[in-house]
Amino acid sequence: MSAAEPIRIGVLGRGTVGGAFVELLAARADAVEEATGRRPEIAGVLRRSEGSYDEILAGSEIVVELIGGTEPARDYVLRALRDGRHVVTANKQLIAQHGDELFEAAREAGVQIRFEAAVAGVIPVIRVIQESLSATEITRVFGIVNGTTNYILTEMANTGASYDDALARAQELGYAEADPSDDVGGADAAAKMAILARLAFHTAVGLEDVSFEGIEAIQPDDLAYAKQFGLSLKLLGVAERHEDEISVRVFPCFLYSGHPLAPVGGPFNAVMVESPSITEITMSGPGAGGTETAAAVLGDVVSIVAGDAPVHVARERLAVTGDVQSAFYLHLEVADRPGVLAQVAERLGANGVSVRSVVQWGIGDDARLVMVMHQCAERDFYSALGEIGKLDFLRAEPRAIRVIEEEFG
Ligand SMILES: NC(=O)c1ccc[n+]([C@@H]2O[C@H](COP(=O)([O-])OP(=O)(O)OC[C@H]3O[C@@H](n4cnc5c(N)ncnc54)[C@H](OP(=O)(O)O)[C@@H]3O)[C@@H](O)[C@H]2O)c1
Repeated sequence: MSAAEPIRIGVLGRGTVGGAFVELLAARADAVEEATGRRPEIAGVLRRSEGSYDEILAGSEIVVELIGGTEPARDYVLRALRDGRHVVTANKQLIAQHGDELFEAAREAGVQIRFEAAVAGVIPVIRVIQESLSATEITRVFGIVNGTTNYILTEMANTGASYDDALARAQELGYAEADPSDDVGGADAAAKMAILARLAFHTAVGLEDVSFEGIEAIQPDDLAYAKQFGLSLKLLGVAERHEDEISVRVFPCFLYSGHPLAPVGGPFNAVMVESPSITEITMSGPGAGGTETAAAVLGDVVSIVAGDAPVHVARERLAVTGDVQSAFYLHLEVADRPGVLAQVAERLGANGVSVRSVVQWGIGDDARLVMVMHQCAERDFYSALGEIGKLDFLRAEPRAIRVIEEEFG
């Protein structure tokens, strides 16, 4: 009896993830063969200075794209799909920006495109949403999907470090890149949330549909005051479905200690999925790292060969709305004189915003008011904030950060 054909894998990119993938494939070849009945074999590796894409494509059954960025990755992946090759990629920008085109090409050619490693590294969140929960009505996905910002916020909260010092430490430890702007500004998390929203709600979601804010303006004292209310700060992605509309947002936000994402610290990632039929599930683990990400890529290769075939179908086209509800933390520096709190409360109340807790500290002739609101329409809060910003006793720009009110468990 002749041995089964090897699985011929073309690898595009041999950097942090590509290098780890090539090593892992050799180390785990026996396990892959046991799981699939076929032994993996590298058909060729493409780098800027090495290999020919056309030759690699011709000799591959599966193309693994680990170059990053949108070009030439998009061109290579499209050509591979149209040529009847399955594709595995770890590239979130590629899927977030060109998902429609790529899924269509895969469907037309009858091949798979898998991208578990593009969101939350080795945490199998894509698989859970796309396969385990494919027939479940998902109402909300919360995610800490950027390890760099989670490390920085954890460091600021634990040590009182400034944002700049915590970022420098993240860079020293390899958790942040030399140019960290996509991570700290929220764009990286926005791409990942676009992918999760697309899969959770079966609708086309592009990067342009996601509103995002980063963590650059966070002050250490916001974290210190919030601790007194039992709050911890995360850069959170939230994708929600409200009947026929969805909202997909990334923003820094306080969580109460009972929230499942509150204890997720350092460079770790976590994703929580909510549905009326499953209540909620939370998955957490390392969100990056060459070996971890390569393990997710290898898992996708095995799934393709084993014959599991998830299909992304945009069943409906839901409108994107910015008309959403949030609770807020509000930090005000004010002149310490009678009636100040009453005037702030009056502006909030007039806009339908109610206060959950308030703490006041004296700072010389001034005072610091730190308040946490109950959930309200965001536009009502911002309208109250606009009025509060004009009050003559304010000593500094008001600082507002969202709060997730639910405490779970
Ligand atoms: N690093 C992580 O922890 C992590 C985690 C999750 C997802 N990802 C994703 O994984 C992908 C790869 O990331 P990485 O960190 O491994 O990147 P990287 O270390 O920068 O490696 C990129 C590789 O692609 C090659 N490359 C770049 N442009 C090319 C081109 N035009 N033609 C051919 N080859 C080209 C590079 O070639 P040279 O070797 O010749 O420079 C290098 O080998 C990205 O999509 C990233 O978002 C990474």
